[in-house]
Amino acid sequence: MCGIVGYIGTRKAQPVLIEGLKRLEYRGYDSAGVSLMNGKGSPVDTRKAKGKIAMLEAAIAERPIEGSTGIAHTRWATHGPPNECNAHPHVDCTGTISLVHNGIIENYGPLRAMLQKTGHTFVSETDTEVLAHLVEAAFDGNLEDAVVDALALVEGTYGIAVISSNDPDKIVAARKGSPLLIGIGEGENYIASDVAAILAHTRQVVYLDDGEMAIIRRDGYTVCDLDQQIVKKGVSRIDWDLDEIEKGGFDHFMLKEIMEQPTTITNTMRGRLVTEEGFSKLGGLNLTMDELQNLDQIIITACGTSWHSALIGELMIEEHARIRCEVEYASEFRYRNPIVTDKTLCIVISQSGETADTLAAMREAKRRGAKTLGLVNQVGSTIAREDDGGIYLHAGPEIGVASTKAFTSQVVALALLTLKLGRLRDMSVVKGREIAQALEALPAQIQSILDRASEVEKIADAFADATNFLYLGRGYNFPAALEGALKLKEISYIHAEGYPAAEMKHGPIALIDAEMPVVFIAPHDSVFDKVVSNVQEVKARGGRVIAITSREEPSLEGKIDYEFRIPQTIDMLNPVLAAIPLQLLSYYIAAKRGLNVDQPRNLAKSVTVE
Ligand code: M6R
Repeated sequence: MCGIVGYIGTRKAQPVLIEGLKRLEYRGYDSAGVSLMNGKGSPVDTRKAKGKIAMLEAAIAERPIEGSTGIAHTRWATHGPPNECNAHPHVDCTGTISLVHNGIIENYGPLRAMLQKTGHTFVSETDTEVLAHLVEAAFDGNLEDAVVDALALVEGTYGIAVISSNDPDKIVAARKGSPLLIGIGEGENYIASDVAAILAHTRQVVYLDDGEMAIIRRDGYTVCDLDQQIVKKGVSRIDWDLDEIEKGGFDHFMLKEIMEQPTTITNTMRGRLVTEEGFSKLGGLNLTMDELQNLDQIIITACGTSWHSALIGELMIEEHARIRCEVEYASEFRYRNPIVTDKTLCIVISQSGETADTLAAMREAKRRGAKTLGLVNQVGSTIAREDDGGIYLHAGPEIGVASTKAFTSQVVALALLTLKLGRLRDMSVVKGREIAQALEALPAQIQSILDRASEVEKIADAFADATNFLYLGRGYNFPAALEGALKLKEISYIHAEGYPAAEMKHGPIALIDAEMPVVFIAPHDSVFDKVVSNVQEVKARGGRVIAITSREEPSLEGKIDYEFRIPQTIDMLNPVLAAIPLQLLSYYIAAKRGLNVDQPRNLAKSVTVE
């Protein structure tokens, strides 16, 4: 959610930190700040601003700051409104210690009261500020010792980076529940919450795990646990290209990411499909043939868009692999008493691999004896490192807050898994081949949809001022309807609901009138004829119908106002093709309303708090 970046080296730190913050802006963006070390023992120099990084740049231009060591932060408010005072970094009473924090300090109330009693003055409403004062109270010349003592008192989650001008040649960072990584340079090093912040400078990174602290110097770094025992860490190499995290001529990351889907889907499937045998090779499952054949149930858990792909996975797995499958919101799963056995496979789906609820649900499933399998996009993320096995999506960095290419890659990865599980049971080679061939056809089919994006734009023109939308679909297209509605509401702020088409008559039909656009996801599949009746019910009440179809349908004649055709595929892959016009529709509506498509209000890309 919030973003952290820190630099220690010989260059001017300020441009490095500001550039890093801009790359992190998609994670959280209501305010930002930077602190630079300004000579031993002198107060740390801090500038903060409400709003975009551009506002922070303006504040720095007014009163420039110098230094070659510093920390910076972009905030997504939890405690206290977004304003300059609540923005990070937070400094202690002496002004010599500065700290940035992602996460939530749950016992900040009693800690704050205790610190105030001993004379500390607080200036913000944040939970984070207690950390700066705790470090101050414990500081005795060595910053890492003070951080260890401070963290011993803290309950909650954190990724922190701290500097002190009284121990100036280091940045100290620590992690519990919020991602952090060290970027390794030459004669300079970095700390960041996300690899995007430092990718312009280095590809060599060390991921911190929970309970670890890093002491980062110009010429090296040390990682230890909170008892200060050294931990040996491996160095990972990041393969992304810088242009993958840039807009590349598009107005928005979301549009770029929508347009990338022929490639991203290809990358998800690369080397994994054995079409002739109707089979898939998934190297990272880490499950024996015996374990795969003897699963008695699958639980899929996720949040948001990833939860929608989970619903599609459930249908695929039950239909084609014949294994009982349940889908649970991760935030609900973690707090109930689910039935999990040692023959349960818990699949966790997450673009970021850092969603707090999903991570907690995975840990809970593991604790109860399930094997866990992560479908994750972000390589090296916490879920990817803690799961028992996984399928990386290989969709490349997704920067737009609205998930697009990750969703289609998730569905494709679930189809690959279905193929594998099905063929280990009673799926015939003929069926397997049919699925594999349909998967292979997807990239070209998606491209053919994208080539007609202007048709969707015209539909968007007609509905940019709508205030409500209904999205309806049956079977595999019901989760597609949910996803279409989520896309619209999160970036255009139009109220939208997804429903199983036939459920409409049990309530939502009361909403239908000439002001209510209804999007039907109605490709020619096994439930198409049933959907026609539902279209009829809407039309009879004056609703305006937008239909996503896959061929000329005489039965729909006179019943629909706008139509967009997608290519014909097998039932289970319809949501992949239907997702493309739905994504474009929300994109164009939001853009026409003049909204900040990539950074919608109140949202963050990766939700690392509960
Ligand atoms: O990174 P994750 O896939 O775990 O994120 C889950 C949700 O927070 C995410 O899908 C969210 O719903 C998106 N904004 C949807 O576009």
